[in-house]
Amino acid sequence: MRGDVAVLVPAAGLGTRLGPGVPKALRELGGTSLLEHAVRRVCLAPSVGCVVVAVPPGTAPDLQAATPARIQLYVVEGGATRQQSVAAALAVTPGSYEVILVHDAARAFAPPELVERVAAAIRDGHPAVIPVLPVVDTIKQVDESGHILTTLDRSALRTVQTPQGFRRDVLEAGHRDVSVAGGHTDDAGLVEKLGIRVFTVPGSELAMKVTHPTDLALAEFLLTHGEAR
Ligand code: C5P
Repeated sequence: MRGDVAVLVPAAGLGTRLGPGVPKALRELGGTSLLEHAVRRVCLAPSVGCVVVAVPPGTAPDLQAATPARIQLYVVEGGATRQQSVAAALAVTPGSYEVILVHDAARAFAPPELVERVAAAIRDGHPAVIPVLPVVDTIKQVDESGHILTTLDRSALRTVQTPQGFRRDVLEAGHRDVSVAGGHTDDAGLVEKLGIRVFTVPGSELAMKVTHPTDLALAEFLLTHGEAR
């Protein structure tokens, strides 16, 4: 359905793993900040009607050029953790939006098709939906001394991306329940703790997260070669 989805964009992280400099979402690639790239791409998805960005405290990025006139845009100050930034964005999201996606600004090149895939699965009746990719490396669990505890079955593992989609009541419950608050690195983790079954859809290589300096180089390659519009 056109315009029935709100996308929350946590963009308030410092990005210390990227090295010194401005907060990660405000780093530029091709003369445009990662945040602007991210907002511009989610707005290409016809389902999106509203974007709520949680920005680093004390900053006021200009997102008008990245946001078509049909999109409702809200900007809030983010918090000390990703979870707090998402909660701040959720608090100002207009009540008319029943489908809510949460999308890391650091995944600046996620294609609009991925946004549509997640939104469609929510409309199909899944309360929570996340995009995933198969794991390519062998994953082992280690103890504190650095010794291997066990080798995990790679065929049953997935790496998780954003945008993650939720029925509004489900995301609100996840963020309201203080007993599940803590060091969650994604929103699906919050709702899993409530016993809600989270559905997976295929992710996209283009939705890679810019975390380390080498990721910036890869993102620049995608931009230059036209794979990230
Ligand atoms: O640090 P990491 O890459 O996992 O952060 C994922 C996303 O969450 C980034 O877009 C980052 O800007 C955002 N974030 C936030 N507020 C924080 C920490 C991270 O909005 N306090």
